[in-house]
Amino acid sequence: SDPQLVARAAAAKAALGDKVFVLGHHYQRDEVIQFADVTGDSFKLARDAAARPQAPYIVFCGVHFMAESADILTGDDQRVVLPDLAAGCSMADMATFDQVEECWDALTDLGIADRVVPVTYMNSSADIKAFVGRRGGVVCTSSNAKRALEWAFEQGEQVLFLPDQHLGRNTAVLEMGLTLDDCVVYNPHRPGGGLTDEQLRNAKMILWKGHCSVHGRFSLASVEDVRTRVPGVNVLVHPECRHEVVTAADHIGSTEYIIKTLEAAEPGSSWAIGTELNLVKRLAGAHPDKNVMFLDKTVCFCSTMNRIDLPHLVWALEALARGEVPNQITVDPETTRHAKAALDRMLALP
Ligand code: 13P
Ligand code: SF4
Repeated sequence: SDPQLVARAAAAKAALGDKVFVLGHHYQRDEVIQFADVTGDSFKLARDAAARPQAPYIVFCGVHFMAESADILTGDDQRVVLPDLAAGCSMADMATFDQVEECWDALTDLGIADRVVPVTYMNSSADIKAFVGRRGGVVCTSSNAKRALEWAFEQGEQVLFLPDQHLGRNTAVLEMGLTLDDCVVYNPHRPGGGLTDEQLRNAKMILWKGHCSVHGRFSLASVEDVRTRVPGVNVLVHPECRHEVVTAADHIGSTEYIIKTLEAAEPGSSWAIGTELNLVKRLAGAHPDKNVMFLDKTVCFCSTMNRIDLPHLVWALEALARGEVPNQITVDPETTRHAKAALDRMLALP
């Protein structure tokens, strides 16, 4: 990265001292991650944002829903900055508040809403988290989805899982002992989700039809191909991958789990990783004694994560150092109250 920009980021950060706390998601670019005070998966970053009351500015190097969650979990005197407001998440955009309300109305008309517990993946807007919080549900991340679902099935008989069908299905089938037949997919673009009343009544998991555009591109063929090319390879994938990919893999977990698994791996072992490219590249660099490769070379970076680059970070830090607060992410008090209830339920999971 440009040495002048590196020097400017370092100078602005030093000038701010303890006033700024920089969080970096594992999918961020190297040029950005070098300035993070803490790196983590979505769960760890949510916890770390909440544990930093003394910093008036939180610079979130990640995507919009993460910055919103940080604002919800931090105090009123803390301001959360997202260096580029265009850093969204296509998966989070696949469930809008109106669509989810419409789905809930359909469940209510059918007389089953009171036995359905809504669970939303962290990768959703604050509105959706508030919707879930208001109805007694919980947020989950890829590192606690099983515990969140166990909790949800203690509260009710059915789960509406938003917005990632893959995380919902993979967790239910591979970790909870449910079957594929227990799951149906609710398509918000079809009347009644494209499902019959009977299907909605009988399903244990009503999965929202959302997915990650990056992880959705790994295929069973990529797993089979790497197994033929690299004998003895360990296939390690994120649970946002499609069910057939996750089923064919050897290890499944969040970004933090992927990092820990590589750290514990034997020297000389081979690893094909199915997650975002910035992280895989960083892992390959950090483990020269292991053969670390990308599961499928045709899959690329998460384009919205990548929007946070060094120029945007420098711009945000320098503005803060001048006393301006650029790109502040704020969630209104009413939404915060309900979304926080759902996030707090997640943070309290055993
Ligand atoms: P985790 O870091 O929680 O595994 O999430 C991955 C992701 O897609 C974030 O957008
Ligand atoms: Fe969203 Fe997928 Fe990018 Fe994560 S990797 S921010 S889920 S689009």
